[in-house]
Amino acid sequence: MIPCQRHAFDIPDDVAYFNCAYMAPTLKVVRQAAEDALARTSQPWRVTPMDFFAPPERARALFAQLIGATADDVAIVSSASYGISTAAKNLRLRRGQSILLLEGEFPSNVYPWYELARRDGGTLRFVPRPQDGDWTAAILRALDDEVAIAALPHCHWTDGSLVDLARVSPALQERGARLVLDVTQSLGALPLDVSRIKVDFLACAAYKWLLGPNGLSFLYASPEHHNGDPLDYNWINRERSEDFAGLVNYREGYQAGARRYDVGERSSFVLIPMAIAALEQLLAWTPEAIMDTLGAVTDELAARLLPLGVHSLPAPLRARHILGVQFAEGGERMAAMVEQLRARKVFVSVRGQTARLAPHLWTNQQDVERLLAAVADLRPR
Ligand SMILES: Cc1ncc(COP(=O)(O)O)c(C=O)c1O
Repeated sequence: MIPCQRHAFDIPDDVAYFNCAYMAPTLKVVRQAAEDALARTSQPWRVTPMDFFAPPERARALFAQLIGATADDVAIVSSASYGISTAAKNLRLRRGQSILLLEGEFPSNVYPWYELARRDGGTLRFVPRPQDGDWTAAILRALDDEVAIAALPHCHWTDGSLVDLARVSPALQERGARLVLDVTQSLGALPLDVSRIKVDFLACAAYKWLLGPNGLSFLYASPEHHNGDPLDYNWINRERSEDFAGLVNYREGYQAGARRYDVGERSSFVLIPMAIAALEQLLAWTPEAIMDTLGAVTDELAARLLPLGVHSLPAPLRARHILGVQFAEGGERMAAMVEQLRARKVFVSVRGQTARLAPHLWTNQQDVERLLAAVADLRPR
């Protein structure tokens, strides 16, 4: 368990922020990295050609370490949707085949698949939200020989309900189907190791559970997909782009591995140092310890909300870092209550039918008590 790290963030005492799934508050070390970076770009003669290459390589290597990959497998992109679109561009369907998704999936992991289905003459098949909350069983039931690609999360973005990838990935492999993941709502707080769980592509935005900046995301491409076609035909992902004087000698070839998928201006002199500082901090804490620490918070919240008539999924079916809760009164009343919580500086989100509580290492016992007291106060008796 990691002791409370509120001092590492800039969160006033009277704010109870349970909304990391919306946006992580910028860590002080990450903000410092941004300020140092801005000081450098204010004096661009201090920015050397090596700054176009060495820091992105460091960010790539740190992200690779987080998922059990190598830096060669990692592209630096601008958004999760950019990463998923890259995957969709490089996968094929045969006419009539389908892409499996979860009902209520985040749109960044949906729209690129509509385009692929249109291009190749396939269909999207949404696994209905299971009544019992068990997505894994529902996915395994939905698998048949028509499924060519499964585009999944590690946990559902609206409520943290889990997908057991250790069971889903081999089942897909057996059928020769591809697995593409959007782990924006899990990576950093829910460990994932692509050296153990076979994944074709994986995208992750940095500004939530990676505690990094908005505007930067990572794309993992397994070695089998290192010869694909990038979305963006930029100069820096071409071979020998380090040779600034020789850039007019246009090149056919690309930089090694997944670097060919890098977005243009991927060297962003502010975002990359921020991402490096965030990933270094995350790896020092470790995703495993973060998960356990946040799990203690969500377990306590789940147990103490229940007598107040607020329900959540049982522990094995939900991730430990996000607690999706439902108020007995349902939809509209819940949205109104969340607004009332906000007025008391208790921040949570409503997504679909669920109020989503997403703590992180800044969360202290006072936050937990304030959330519970506010809910008790606002619930009809
Ligand atoms: C599951 C999931 N994926 C991706 C994103 C962000 O997508 P993008 O980077 O395409 O803006 C979000 C943001 O809420 C999300 O919840």
